[in-house]
Amino acid sequence: MNFTPTEDQLAVQTTAREFATNEVLPKAAEIDREHRHPAELVKRMAELGFLGIAVPEEYGGSGLDHVSYALAMEEVSRACASTGVIMSVNNSLVCDPIYRFGSEAQKREWLTPLASGKLLGCFALSEPEAGSDAAAQKTTAEKQGDDWVINGTKNWITNGPVADVCVLFTMNDKAAGHKGITAFILPMKTKGVRVGQADDKLGIRGSKSSQIFLDDVRLSEAHMLGTVGGGFKVAMSTLDGGRIGIAAQALGIARAALEDSLAYAQQRRTFGKPIAQHQAIQFKLADMATEIDAARLLTLRAAYLKDAKQPYGKEAAMAKLFASDVANKAAREGIQIFGGNGYVTEYPMERHFRDAKITEIYEGTSEIQRLVIAGHLSKGG
Ligand code: CAA
Repeated sequence: MNFTPTEDQLAVQTTAREFATNEVLPKAAEIDREHRHPAELVKRMAELGFLGIAVPEEYGGSGLDHVSYALAMEEVSRACASTGVIMSVNNSLVCDPIYRFGSEAQKREWLTPLASGKLLGCFALSEPEAGSDAAAQKTTAEKQGDDWVINGTKNWITNGPVADVCVLFTMNDKAAGHKGITAFILPMKTKGVRVGQADDKLGIRGSKSSQIFLDDVRLSEAHMLGTVGGGFKVAMSTLDGGRIGIAAQALGIARAALEDSLAYAQQRRTFGKPIAQHQAIQFKLADMATEIDAARLLTLRAAYLKDAKQPYGKEAAMAKLFASDVANKAAREGIQIFGGNGYVTEYPMERHFRDAKITEIYEGTSEIQRLVIAGHLSKGG
C-alpha cells in the first residue's frame, strides 16, 4: 500500500476541498436549519464530476478510483454531511451496481446520465420491517406476461423525494428467501410510484429521505438489474462499497468537529489563557486527531483494496464501524470543548453531533458491521 497520493488523487482532494470550503461550508448551517435539499450544490457536484467519480468516462463518470472518491467524500462531508450523503448514494449505491451488474444498454440509458449528474439516484432496500434483516423483503415482484408488477413499501430512502431513478429490491419468490430477491432500475416517474413525506430527522437535515410506495408498478424485463433471484448479492456487494463512502462521510464530520474545536480552543480563554493551553483540552484534541488518522487509514485501505480488485468487504465494514464511532466521539468531545456554546445552534458543533449519529445506523448499523466482520473472521478472511 502506497501512502503517497497520486497526482489525480491530490487534484480531486484539492478541488473537493476548495469546493467544500468556498461553496458548501457557507451554506451548511442554513441547509440544516431549513431542512433544504441543496439542489444548487448537487448541480455543482455534477459539473465537478463528483457524482460518478469511479465510473469510467465512457459512461459519463470521471474515470477515477475509489481512493479519490473517499478523499472527495471526506472533504464535502467536512463542510456539510447532508451534501456528502447525497453524493455517496449516487456514487456508491446507484452508479456502482448499475456499472457492475447492468447490461450495456442499461449502462448507456441509466448509468451515463446518473454518473454525469443529469439524473440523481436512490437505493431502495430497507422496508418498514426489513432494515438490518435485509433478506426479509416484503415488496413483491410478480411476472405478468412480459412485465413485472411490483407492490410494496420502502422506508428511509435517502434521495427518495428528489431522485429520478431508483435501484429497487423486490421479492419475487418468498419461499426462496434471499435467493428470491430481484433488483430493478426504476424510473421514479413510473405510474404507481408515490413518494411519502420527507422524514423529519435528527441530523443530515438537508438530505431528503422518505418512504416510497409502489402500487402495481409495471416494469419491463429491460429494467431488471442482474438476474432473477440475484438481487441480494447485488445489494450486499453494493453495500460493501457504500460503507467506504459512509466511512469517509464520518471522517469528514469528525474532522469538522476537530477543526472547529481547535479554532475555538485557541481563542476561548479561561483562567487567564486560551483553553487550548489547558491539558484537559489538549488531551481531547490529541485523541480526536489520532483517532481521525486511524479512521482515515482504515477507510483508504478499503478503497485501495476495492481499486486493486481484492476482497474488501471486511475492511469496508471495519472502516465504517471505526470511523462512525470516531465521528460520534469527536462531536461529543467537541461539544464539551465548546461548553455552553456547543449546545446552541449559533455554533456548528451541535450540528456535527446530530449529523454524526446516522453514520452508526445507515448502510448497516455498527452491530451489523460487527456481524459482517465476524462472518469474515469465521471464514478465515
Ligand atoms: N457480497 C456478495 N454476496 C454476499 C455478501 C457480499 N458482501 N454478503 C453476503 N452475501 C451472500 C452470501 O454469500 C450468501 O449467498 P449464498 O446463499 O449463495 O451462499 C447470501 O448473500 C446470504 O448471506 P448471509 O447468510 O450472510 O445473509 P443474512 O441474511 O444473514 O444477512 C447481513 C447478512 C450482513 C446481516 C445483511 O442482511 C446486511 O448487511 N444487513 C444490513 C443491511 C443494510 O446495510 N441496510 C442498509 C440500507 S441502505 C441505506 O442505508 C442507504 C442510505 O440510506 C444511505
